[in-house]
Amino acid sequence: MPAGKPEMRRNKTEDDITAEVLQRFSATPDPRLRQIMLSLITHLHAFVKEVELTEAEWFKAIEILTEAGKMCSDRRQEFILFSDTLGVSMVVDLLGHRKPDRATESTVFGPFHRLGAPDMSLGGNIAHRDTSGTPAIVSGRVLDLAGKPIAGAVLDVWQAQTNGLYDSQDENPQNLHMRGKFRTNAKGRYSVRTVIPVNYPIPSDGPVGAMLAATGRHPWRPAHIHFVVSAEGYEPVTTHIFDRRDPYLQSDAVFAVKDSLICEFVRHDGNNGVAPPDGVSGSFYTAEFDFCLAPVGGKAVDVEDAQRRLAALGAR
Ligand code: BEZ
Ligand code: FE
Repeated sequence: MPAGKPEMRRNKTEDDITAEVLQRFSATPDPRLRQIMLSLITHLHAFVKEVELTEAEWFKAIEILTEAGKMCSDRRQEFILFSDTLGVSMVVDLLGHRKPDRATESTVFGPFHRLGAPDMSLGGNIAHRDTSGTPAIVSGRVLDLAGKPIAGAVLDVWQAQTNGLYDSQDENPQNLHMRGKFRTNAKGRYSVRTVIPVNYPIPSDGPVGAMLAATGRHPWRPAHIHFVVSAEGYEPVTTHIFDRRDPYLQSDAVFAVKDSLICEFVRHDGNNGVAPPDGVSGSFYTAEFDFCLAPVGGKAVDVEDAQRRLAALGAR
């Protein structure tokens, strides 16, 4: 310390540290990154001070994040599961997809979409290897905001198998199953042959599962079918339809249920006048759901962008 200069007292209190950290980040050249970093530091420090985080708890948090990183592979993204189960994915989704009233609402993309689903014709069966599920026909229209049918809209569909697993969780994940791309006909209609969707638990053998168990939460998602619906000149929508009868609608592990996405699956036992699908002799279900697309606004992020981002994280 040069003679004559008063000694500076640094970092005397926890608030001094917060102020100094904020000051160091305040010269970040990119204005958006500066905004994000300053807000992150402000909230993170406030959280640590509010709960008076102990060293042991801080170390536990580091262990959990380390474990989450080790769980990530081409078949597992533990950080996305954290984001989903903490409700962050749904908040980001809501902020990014504010839609006009009539447009179909979006919901989480989830980690199980795959590129390369086969093109299928109207009524094509995505569940050809699923022998235990009850057959179901999901059909409806793709409409614009005025209710006019959109011909040639693409519906990229994926669903968990009746065993509660996606094909990518199977022993032979290279065999695509329960996936298909459908195009609407001249009347804007689509039709998907599948099996009745089941509820299933999200992967819970890692730190996310431990967090759910420690906080008294379950890992279940209500039965649903995933859709990305897109058409030239319209904002694509990434969404699900949910089975109205499901007991987990009120407590979806990833907070993705919206009332407008709940759909009636109607059971037919062969004697109520509705013709069964080809090759079906017993019970089957039908569900009717119309999707409504808003015209393209700003820069649309499509499902391929989202999937490429997942691929960059190692997903396949
Ligand atoms: C899914 O529905 O596929 C899903 C969504 C979020 C987390 C895990 C699974
Ligand atoms: Fe799912």
